[in-house]
Amino acid sequence: MVNKYLYLNTIGCQMNVYDSEQIAMRLARLGYQQTSALEMADLVIVNTCTIRAKAEQKAFSFLGRLARLKKKKPGLITGVGGCVAQQEGEKIFKRIPYLDLVFGTQAINRLPELIQKIETKRCRIVDIAIDDKPEFAEAHSIVRQNSQMSRFVTIMRGCDNFCSYCVVPYVRGRETSRHPDVVINEIQELSQAGLKEVTLLGQNVNSYGKKEGLCSFTELLFRVRNIEQLLRIRFTTSHPKDLDDDLINAFRTNDKLCNHIHLPVQSGSNRVLKRMNRKYSKELYLDKVAKLRDTCPDIAITSDIIVGFPGESNAEFDETLDLIQTIEFDGLFAFMYSDRPNAPAAKFDQKVSEQQKKDRLQNLLERQEKLTRMKNQALVGNIMPILAEGFSKKQSSGNLNHPHQAVQWTGRTSTNKIVNFYQADSPENCGEITPGKLVLIKIEKAYSHSLWGEPVDSKSLVEGLKGEESYAA
Ligand code: SAH
Ligand code: SF4
Ligand code: F3S
Repeated sequence: MVNKYLYLNTIGCQMNVYDSEQIAMRLARLGYQQTSALEMADLVIVNTCTIRAKAEQKAFSFLGRLARLKKKKPGLITGVGGCVAQQEGEKIFKRIPYLDLVFGTQAINRLPELIQKIETKRCRIVDIAIDDKPEFAEAHSIVRQNSQMSRFVTIMRGCDNFCSYCVVPYVRGRETSRHPDVVINEIQELSQAGLKEVTLLGQNVNSYGKKEGLCSFTELLFRVRNIEQLLRIRFTTSHPKDLDDDLINAFRTNDKLCNHIHLPVQSGSNRVLKRMNRKYSKELYLDKVAKLRDTCPDIAITSDIIVGFPGESNAEFDETLDLIQTIEFDGLFAFMYSDRPNAPAAKFDQKVSEQQKKDRLQNLLERQEKLTRMKNQALVGNIMPILAEGFSKKQSSGNLNHPHQAVQWTGRTSTNKIVNFYQADSPENCGEITPGKLVLIKIEKAYSHSLWGEPVDSKSLVEGLKGEESYAA
């Protein structure tokens, strides 16, 4: 078979990362091999995101860059998939006249046929059909090209929550959960190929299976826990309104579940939360945080905030500032509100000015940076199991005069904090570090986005390290 090359550009959330893997696997069956060199490509696909206007612009600016390439290589096939494709459909052809394919978020299964049709007939195709009960893109029986120690696995798609600012329910369709047996099979297969950590993905994982009458999300977590080779389980995202006691208790009882929850609060003002259609109050959120910390004192909690939602007053923004000060999140993603097509908030009046949104964002991020640093600082002196991922980006700063310092490693705590470290002075005591191995690290320094530590002789394990220490030796 002649080698054909696929250049795949993924923009957006982790779900798109998973979908891109599914795309690559299906196109591999047609003989497409992935390349990171755009000029080599016979097929270029961009998997897009439309959560905020900026993400959408990113997709169009990449598509614009393809004009020159298409001129040089008229046989090149170009396609756009994902959430912008779903939202815009045929309209994209008007904007990007040399585009061959627009395929929506539920068309991944049909992609090989669509590409084959374009290859043979040189036609243009739009496939943005969306179904209330979509067939899942199931390709788990094909082993992924390269084994990795950490991966995302989508357990559900779509969203039924209809937060008033959000485009997801319109571009991803109705919430649909994958059958637990299929999820377990996929993770089992991946773990046989070297997977040590899995992140279960969904827009609202804690309502997993409810609609279909499958097992609960907490039950699924226990089934995943029983996959022997797997060391760690993470998940994202949870909606505060659906975070039940069962799931909170799992942080204590499921020994492979990491001590981290991403629990987007969006705002600290009850009036704004109501207008966002979030279906919880600040008080309920605080109650969930208290329960989480009671159950699992070490848990790290991160969140999302939108600043400048239509009608958000200075006083309401101050309530958000107060909330982050009260909760002391371990980390925060903050976004300036952006009008989205179909989302009801786009029609709300009293829009906040761009300048005000910028000022609020900066104010929020400055405060959070201090809190994150303080949280990280409190970890200095602790010995923590770190799942080694690979070499850190700063590996060139390694000291070649000290062989153990020649490469800098990076990994994460159970609480999802990045820790960088060198191989130990005496690997005979601490063990050789390899990706996917749990190593004990004593935290020496704290920064705002990462920690620095030193490997510890596992024989000197301090008492009190529970759960993961059994894997650390
Ligand atoms: N399903 C997840 C979030 C998915 S989108 C949840 O419910 O929490 C990720 C984040 O993008 C959201 O939490 C929100 O903070 C932000 N976001 C979504 N729509 C937005 C918009 N129109 N403008 C600005 N930020 C937005
Ligand atoms: Fe969007 Fe809300 Fe659904 Fe999250 S829960 S994807 S913010 S509609
Ligand atoms: Fe973006 Fe679609 Fe994900 S809009 S955030 S890629 S679900």
